[in-house]
Amino acid sequence: MNIVNFRLNSFVKTVLDALNNIVTDYKPAVFASSLAAEDMVLTDLILRNNFDINIFTLNTGRLHSETLNMLNKIYLTYKYKIKVYYPLNSEVNNYIFKNGINAFYDSVQMRKKCCYIRKVKPLKKALIGNKSWITGQRRTQSITRSNLVLKEKDIIHNGIIKFNPLYNWLEKDIWNYINTYNVPYNTLYDNGYLSIGCEPCTRPTEKGKDIRSGRWWWENSNIKECGLHVLDGKLIRIKSQKGI
Ligand code: ADX
Ligand code: SF4
Repeated sequence: MNIVNFRLNSFVKTVLDALNNIVTDYKPAVFASSLAAEDMVLTDLILRNNFDINIFTLNTGRLHSETLNMLNKIYLTYKYKIKVYYPLNSEVNNYIFKNGINAFYDSVQMRKKCCYIRKVKPLKKALIGNKSWITGQRRTQSITRSNLVLKEKDIIHNGIIKFNPLYNWLEKDIWNYINTYNVPYNTLYDNGYLSIGCEPCTRPTEKGKDIRSGRWWWENSNIKECGLHVLDGKLIRIKSQKGI
């Protein structure tokens, strides 16, 4: 076995151990998939190994068609239908009526408001009734994630346990997995996108810039998050204690 596959196999084994632990001790568990490359690695591991974990995505109503097309690709590959959560029409309409369809370009506050309506509130709904949730976050995606751990107590979402099984994977590990196991992926990656969110708020990453620099590129902050993982712009990370 070459050194690259040795690394991948040992990373995969660690994730499988984590998923086993989740279905044994933290059920019901759900996996939030943005349909990005990281999330496809987890999707593949969950579905090919029949883990009892439901997978959902948050359709903000502003996603690229390439991203939405992933739902079909996943169905064709795994015969699995990802559950889709949507924002409330009344809240979206009210925001647009008052502020305009693309008001997120006007200020950070307006941007966060849009993310709250289109992503954070639907996430809260998706987490109801679950003991844990799983994300595809990685440490090297952003400075806000540099101290990410496998298991956290998510105080943003009522103390639910949050697992980040890919926390220590590098971008090259993700693509090594995808290529090795022939996992379907969003074709936007073939066009220079390294991190993918909503269509009007994402552009291809410029050469030499960090992975998330194409997200909300007009903002000047180092903390560019939509609110799924940070509270009021502040990062609060509580490592889950033994026994929780
Ligand atoms: S974000 O907070 O800036 O949007 P990012 O796109 O890096 O997050 O994704 C990090 C993780 O958050 C994903 O691996 C996934 O678990 C979750 N996530 C982000 N966007 C969505 C979405 N639209 N639907 C479901 N989960 C999502
Ligand atoms: Fe709205 Fe942009 Fe946030 Fe999507 S990423 S919810 S379009 S502000």
